Amino acid sequence: MQVITEITQLRKALSSLRQGSIALVPTMGYLHEGHLALVAAAKAQNDTVVMSIFVNPTQFGPNEDFESYPRDLARDSKLAAEAGVDFIFAPSVEEMYPVNGSVVLQAGAMASKLCGASRPTHFDGVVQVVAKLFNIVQPTRAYFGQKDAQQLAIIETMVRDFNFPIEICAVPIVREADGLAKSSRNVYLTKEQRDKAPAIYKELTRLQQGKQTREATKEAIERATGGKIDYLTKLAYPDLTEPTASTKRFVLAVAVFVGKTRLIDNIIWEVV
Ligand code: PAF
Repeated sequence: MQVITEITQLRKALSSLRQGSIALVPTMGYLHEGHLALVAAAKAQNDTVVMSIFVNPTQFGPNEDFESYPRDLARDSKLAAEAGVDFIFAPSVEEMYPVNGSVVLQAGAMASKLCGASRPTHFDGVVQVVAKLFNIVQPTRAYFGQKDAQQLAIIETMVRDFNFPIEICAVPIVREADGLAKSSRNVYLTKEQRDKAPAIYKELTRLQQGKQTREATKEAIERATGGKIDYLTKLAYPDLTEPTASTKRFVLAVAVFVGKTRLIDNIIWEVV
């Protein structure tokens, strides 16, 4: 496995491999089993796997955790090599954003709901960096976790709207044994918060199964975790609009502040 930090070097390394399929697994590093599940899916379907590791400043708001976001390239490189990644692309901020660009991409109406309501610039930053990564790597397929359901829906829409010749592959949420969705941010939780956090998925499941109301679910999550609900919303998926009588596919999504840590989770399902 090679770790590459410059765009020109990566393009050179990939130029002789373009006869085969190339997978991109975009990450912000601090890898966990959720990321490794993306790599496993990518390896199963492609000849070459590129993982990008870049904590993208443009998707963090002014008071968010950009500075403190966990970073450990040595640890990530070891895990990625063991998982069979061929290239890590780990650019600096200057390499990705050498100038303050004047042409911008905007994620649009889908970005104003769910996480976008409290993180108004987040998805503009996500589409900016993902579009850049797509142009830099020019992958055959790109892999995203279903845990970030809104991000996945927005990226699928961007690919459709801007004709990126890339297949977007969604990989199911990877959970701890007690149900908590794996996340790089779980390391922020104290032991007590971590022990209580599985209540989020447990209560979300009860709501999805019609065993309790939305209000009761909010109360149960806040009581069990000592946290504060940011949103608990059911929408049509992947268009993220209000469900109608003809909606067949849904997302039930939740975000909870447990202490200062914002945890997200969701369930996506279809009715026939
Ligand atoms: O999901 C993430 O880790 C990030 O939002 C992504 C897609 C790597 C873009 O920075």
